[in-house]
Order: sequence, then C-alpha cells, then structure tokens
Amino acid sequence: MVKTMEWRQEGLVLLDQTKLPQSVQYITCKDYRRVCQAIQKLEVRGAPALGAAAAFAMVLAFTATVQTTADIKGPYLAAKEEICAARPTAVNLSWGANLMYAAAQKLAAAGTPVPELAVRLTKLAQQIYDADIATNKKMGAYGAAILPAESVVLTHCNAGALATCGWGTALGVIRSAYALGKIKMVFSDETRPLLQGARLTAWELLADGIPVTTITDGMAAWTMAQKGVNVVITGADRIAANGDAANKIGTFGVALAARHFHVPFYIAAPASTFDFNLASGREIPIEERAPEEVRSVQGVPVAPSHVPVFNPAFDVTPAELISGIITEYGVLRPPFAASIKNLQQQVLKEAHSQWKV
Ligand code: MRU
Repeated sequence: MVKTMEWRQEGLVLLDQTKLPQSVQYITCKDYRRVCQAIQKLEVRGAPALGAAAAFAMVLAFTATVQTTADIKGPYLAAKEEICAARPTAVNLSWGANLMYAAAQKLAAAGTPVPELAVRLTKLAQQIYDADIATNKKMGAYGAAILPAESVVLTHCNAGALATCGWGTALGVIRSAYALGKIKMVFSDETRPLLQGARLTAWELLADGIPVTTITDGMAAWTMAQKGVNVVITGADRIAANGDAANKIGTFGVALAARHFHVPFYIAAPASTFDFNLASGREIPIEERAPEEVRSVQGVPVAPSHVPVFNPAFDVTPAELISGIITEYGVLRPPFAASIKNLQQQVLKEAHSQWKV
C-alpha cells in the first residue's frame, strides 16, 4: 500500500494526491508553511491524514520558531494557529496541532531543554502517525463484522489509505471485509468537483484487487435501485455531539437515497474526528473553495468562465439518517447523544496514558 507521508531527516515527504492516478510524485516540505500550502491545495487530504500532517508541521514549526523556551507561547502559538486555519472543516487538523502544542507546553514547563524537546515532539508526531494505522485496523475489524455477506457497497469521496496514514476508515472497513470474503462489489462515486472517488478510491481499490465500479455522483440513487447496493459507508471530517456528521459534499444526498431504499448508511471515523464541543452539525464550519474547481474539470473549462458558482467542499448528514458510526472503540448506535457521550468518557479516560512524550 502506498504511503501518504513519511517523516525523514530533510522534512515531511508527502505523496502529491493532486497528481494521482496519472503519476506518483512526492513533495518534500522543509517548513511548516509548505505543509499548510499542501493542505490547502489538497496535495495531502482526508481528515486523519490532515491530523498527522498537522503534527509533523508542528515539528517543523518548532524548529523554525523556538530558540528558547520563552518562544513556546508567542511564535510557536502563532504557527499553530496558522496550521489550524489551513482548512476549517476536518477537526483532526486542529486535534493533531493542539495535541503537539499541549505536549510542548508541558515539556517546557518541566524545564526540558529545547534540543531534547524537539526530539520528543518528533517522536510524538510519529506516534500519532503509527496510532492512526492501528486505529484504522481496529475500525476495520468492527466494521467488517457488521457488513452483510455478499456486500454491495457504495462509498463517496476517498476515505482510504490515501486519506489516512494507512488502511483507511471507510475503505479500511471494506479492506477488512474483503479479507473475510464479504465484498462482492464497491461502487465509488466520482465525487465532483475534485474527483477523489474516481481518481483515488478507484486507484486504491484496483491496486488491492478489490472489485470496484466508478459512477458519477448523479448515478448513486439509480445504482442503489439497480445494482443491489446493500450498504453505504463513508468517512467523516467532523462529527458533532448529537451525531450530525460533516463529510465530502454529496454525502448528504447519498444518505437520503439510502434511507429511501432502506439501505443502512454507516460512517467510519476515529475518535479524533468527533468534536465533542459542538452540540449539532449546524455549528460545523463548512469550507467553501474556489469557483474554478466547479467551472473546470482537471483544468479543462466546462462552464462559462463568468458563471456564478457555489462550491461548498462538505455537507452535513443529519444524525437521523445514520445507522451507525464505526470507531476504534466499537460501533456507535442511535441515540447518538448517549453513545457519543459514552465514547467521550472512554477517550478522556485513556488520554493520559495514550500519548507518551
Ligand atoms: O476534501 P477532502 O478530499 O479532504 O475530503 C475528504 C473527505 O471528505 C473524506 O471522506 C473524510 O476526510 C474522511 S477520510 C478518512
């Protein structure tokens, strides 16, 4: 499985996802601002991958802004804010940056010398990266257990190895279920405007020999009706305390169609994608991107150059359309207010022992 990112002596090496599937190219980010740029351009993308990229960006920011521990509040805090602002919807981004910042504060308060602090922060970022893969494997096992035999799955966008540090969330469940012989077919929505489903999901599943058929977004409801889709699984970018879930634009429509056909609609997402502070999806910030992404496809104009465009990158699926949320702690079921509260308590209990610096 291809690596989305790797920490090396020279900096953070990212697989440039804008070039896929035509070519496999890498970018070396030697400073945190280049990581922010890569996040904005979607060279690295997908909520859990953004969490790990933010953690490595915080390592680069530390070297750039901290000469003495006195710098740890002003310049380092400013760099963290810049990283968090790179994209607004996926909460994993600020989760990764805040975890690193809190660790740096704690180590500085304990009198850790700056060179040792840099080493310990690098180890923590690597730990965040490794933990994401382990988390996805756990989610995969929980999800595979509840998928029907002979699953005909529909998925939207790319919630695979490419959107994480490896294995994937929604595609991780599909990978684990495929290993158990439970996957008959995966329908992958192409996911306009940036085609993560057609370019990335199809590429990833083909590489693993998992049967995949790509459809345009407008074909999802008809495909459910015609092709025996018996389960829908997507990822998420931010889940509110009541279970409302933001994911790639088009997910809400897919969930509505699934409800019409009585097909279960699951989300697969790690605990780091939950925003326990938000009461409902109405409070989730939705990124709006450049009009050019809609007026053109892969740089080729497909609409009048001056037509007004609305380009929200995400939508929010209301909790009542979601059958279950697959996490590394198990499958959360409605009523989500209660099951998410329970998840929050488990996360808090483990927080002290999980991240060692
Ligand atoms: O704009 P993107 O490509 O970053 O959007 C990604 C998605 O919406 C994914 O479904 C989500 O981040 C979950 S990834 C495991």
